Amino acid sequence: MSFHLELRNVSKSVFHRVNETKIRTLLFSDLNLKIGRGELVTIMGASGSGKTTLLRLINRLSDPDSGTILLNSIDICSMPPQELRKKAGMVFQLPVMFQGSVRENIAFGMELWGESMDINALAKDAGVPEKLLDADTGRLSVGEKQRVCIARALSTQPELLLLDEPTSSLDSISAQKIETMLLGLQRDHDLTMVWVTHEKEQAGRIGGRRLILKDGKLEEHAED
Ligand SMILES: Nc1ncnc2c1ncn2[C@@H]1O[C@H](COP(=O)(O)OP(=O)(O)O)[C@@H](O)[C@H]1O
Ligand SMILES: [Mg+2]
Repeated sequence: MSFHLELRNVSKSVFHRVNETKIRTLLFSDLNLKIGRGELVTIMGASGSGKTTLLRLINRLSDPDSGTILLNSIDICSMPPQELRKKAGMVFQLPVMFQGSVRENIAFGMELWGESMDINALAKDAGVPEKLLDADTGRLSVGEKQRVCIARALSTQPELLLLDEPTSSLDSISAQKIETMLLGLQRDHDLTMVWVTHEKEQAGRIGGRRLILKDGKLEEHAED
């Protein structure tokens, strides 16, 4: 059986400097993970356990020390990064905005990748009010910005969405609204979703397969 996303024996260390000495910390070693198409997986773990780094490896914002990551059975290192990032959209913990209007921000990825999508439809999917489309992103709330980032991530029609604590900088009402919207998108677009969260309650609400990154290993999290 082939999986949509597969990690085989993935190891990663990071370095930091203490005075003149470079100290190496092994974040994880020999991680193995198989995710089916359309599957929803949550990853929890303490701060600093390597959750963000793990997502960055899947999008090739960083490369592992060793091991292989396969998307549709193809080693992601053999794909042009643009092609990979078109298939695997990422939403960061803090919304990343470019100068300009909401519309321009949503269109950014499409222009980069030569796609043509209906901006109004993307905005609607992500719950960005139509009246905000021509507003400058500077005046948006964090929650609205995060919705714009989600619309932008959808603009390349990704198969896989990597979510790095997408609601952690929001108040709980906005967070739950975005959570519901993301779950609707996952269902409607049959997206494979890897959702990093540090909140147990949120992982419970999201459902799906629950994993924990702990002491450099990914463990299946048994139901409470
Ligand atoms: N590029 C980097 N260089 C050095 N250290 C890093 C780098 N990226 C992350 N780290 C360190 O690796 C650890 C894990 O980081 P991160 O993946 O952001 O964890 P999490 O998302 O689980 O909080 C942290 O201690 C962080 O400081
Ligand atoms: Mg993180």
